Amino acid sequence: MLTGFGGHAEQAVASAATTIALEGALAGLSPLLAAATACNGATAVGTLRGAARLAEGERVLVLGAAGALGALLGDLARSYGAGLVVGAAGTPQRAALAAGRGYHRALTYGELESQAMELTDGRGFDVVVDPIGGPLRERIRPLLAVLGRHVVIGDAADRDTSMAANQVWYDSYSLAGYNLGALIGRRPDLFRAQFAEALRLVADGTLRPEVEQIGWDAVAEAHRRLEGRSAEVKYVLRTA
Ligand SMILES: NC(=O)c1ccc[n+]([C@@H]2O[C@H](COP(=O)([O-])OP(=O)(O)OC[C@H]3O[C@@H](n4cnc5c(N)ncnc54)[C@H](OP(=O)(O)O)[C@@H]3O)[C@@H](O)[C@H]2O)c1
Repeated sequence: MLTGFGGHAEQAVASAATTIALEGALAGLSPLLAAATACNGATAVGTLRGAARLAEGERVLVLGAAGALGALLGDLARSYGAGLVVGAAGTPQRAALAAGRGYHRALTYGELESQAMELTDGRGFDVVVDPIGGPLRERIRPLLAVLGRHVVIGDAADRDTSMAANQVWYDSYSLAGYNLGALIGRRPDLFRAQFAEALRLVADGTLRPEVEQIGWDAVAEAHRRLEGRSAEVKYVLRTA
């Protein structure tokens, strides 16, 4: 189930729309993997299917590919038929981590401009998934193909930016977005379908969330890793 806020608790209340029973095809799914899927799995499905409208054969670039969400987006884009899936991360070490997670190629952010056109036969990426924001967001437009989609799904850098609306017209690209919270509030049915699809894809092995189960004693360290850009997994807190 997805609680919204307040997940660090022994008991939590969630609406029926965001709660799915682990039964039928999901009966074999471990509660640990299911908990790790709730937020990022639904977001990955909603981002690629809903916001990016990913089509067969398209070329995809995922920023933050070494993070927990990035660990799902590579495999998912491939399973939806993307022709090329490139992951980008902050350091060569983190790019190497992404390379083992379903990406055809992994780059550092510093290599994006020099590699993008070569990797895409001079066309650019059809989809760029951007959970990062900040100065990196301002570098995306020239990496996009004509009619490409820049999909904004987070602000890990905690620095928003402004964009000229006319540029979308001049360069013939789209800005798209996906926010789980907004979906749950306004289209719980759609959220539920995306959450269910993510759970099915984890249950059949298509998606492989990288999970670490922690107890209360490890919560502070997990937060330090998340804030210090060194987290490589999704943390699931076992409360009892
Ligand atoms: N739209 C939605 O509904 C939705 C749902 C889930 C998550 N999100 C957002 O998506 C983002 C990624 O989630 P996640 O679960 O993958 O988190 P995560 O595991 O902590 O990964 C965050 C990623 O951001 C990168 N990053 C770049 N600049 C950063 C900075 N200044 N501070 C911290 N990280 C920075 C980090 O990798 P490098 O150091 O390699 O760049 C890391 O890969 C988060 O911002 C989250 O809020 C959005």
